Amino acid sequence: MSVLQGARVVLYVTGGIAAYKASDLASKLTQAGTEVDVVLSRAAEDFVGPLTFQALTQRTVYRADDAMTADNEIAHVRLAADADVLVIAPATANAIARLAHGQADDLGSAIALSTQAPIVVAPAMEPGMYANPATQENLETLRRRGVRVIEPDTGRMASGAQGQGRLPETPVLLDVIRATLGRDGPLKNRVLVVSAGGTREYMDPVRFIGNPASGRQGVELARAAIERGATTRLVLGSGTVEPPAGAETTRVESAEEMLDALREAVRGCDALIMNAAVGDYRPAATSDVKLKRGGEPAGIDLIENPDLLQSLKGDFLRIGFAAETNDHLENARSKLLGKELDALVVNDVAGSDTGFAAETNAVTILRPEHPDLEVPLTSKSGVASAVLDVVVEMIGGR
Ligand code: CTP
Repeated sequence: MSVLQGARVVLYVTGGIAAYKASDLASKLTQAGTEVDVVLSRAAEDFVGPLTFQALTQRTVYRADDAMTADNEIAHVRLAADADVLVIAPATANAIARLAHGQADDLGSAIALSTQAPIVVAPAMEPGMYANPATQENLETLRRRGVRVIEPDTGRMASGAQGQGRLPETPVLLDVIRATLGRDGPLKNRVLVVSAGGTREYMDPVRFIGNPASGRQGVELARAAIERGATTRLVLGSGTVEPPAGAETTRVESAEEMLDALREAVRGCDALIMNAAVGDYRPAATSDVKLKRGGEPAGIDLIENPDLLQSLKGDFLRIGFAAETNDHLENARSKLLGKELDALVVNDVAGSDTGFAAETNAVTILRPEHPDLEVPLTSKSGVASAVLDVVVEMIGGR
């Protein structure tokens, strides 16, 4: 289950053009089962009205001068006490300055001053205002006090200017909120390594032997580890999926690059989840220049890649994935024993709803001397949750 489900988030929206993006954040959080109390600053209402947020969250929306809740409780006290996290997005330069100086001149800033919950601030403003030493010093003050500041994106601003100051997209904000909610989770002080995606073995600078792994399942595993409090190192091969904001990510292409990156990453780790679809073979020779038509060899000589899991042994749990197209449980059981794994997650990649490109997956988790655990068809994040619950159980027993 995601940490977002059942969590209480106070979303304080201040008055920048990116306020419209906060409505998407409020919507996505609500869809994930979070109770979102939106608090608007006076200027925020010039950009987006309370009704938008009220319709999206189906909850009371609070305005700058609201003193009481619908239940006649003191608004800043009640909301501050109930929050699991306070998210300030977008945070204008003015809002950041007020927070840094402990001002409490509207409901949102009074909540920020009262709450014991962690605070996440997502600055968004013109690049000149963001770069100004006054803003940077105020942000430094907030960081020193333990506030989590999300770096704004660089790109085109509403004014047409280019620079750093854009509010990051919703998935990034969600990742940071998840990591913040999960910081004291069952994997706190644990280090998890996840490999994800496919590998590419180049024949020449423009051609490779690869596979269609998207990286989605591995990225969801990393996300599930982060939201359980783990320090998460992601070694990401080819694929189309963006890594989660909170992972220490290394990008690789070939199996050998992946092995080198993993050797670094597993130092001091508690568990390795080897989800990557590693190519078993690579061309025996790689041309430095593009092979010309007619110049290609009649066949491609292949040599075997190392087995990464077999090369990565140490004082940590090793969890493999088995992508099978037939006799999957029998094949998998022999892999579990052959590779001396602590667990093996088996999926049938021949199915259209469980294959490489699918949004969903269904797996069976095998462990030595444990009954098989079947995870019926669900989202890839649902599978990731089930796998991480098993990892938590195994790590707890170490
Ligand atoms: N694996 C690996 N190194 C390889 C190939 C696979 O570490 N060169 C890992 C995968 O990341 C996965 C597990 O081994 O966790 C099983 O991968 P899979 O491709 O299903 O099996 P193989 O060992 O390659 O066996 P086969 O291709 O014969 O099914």
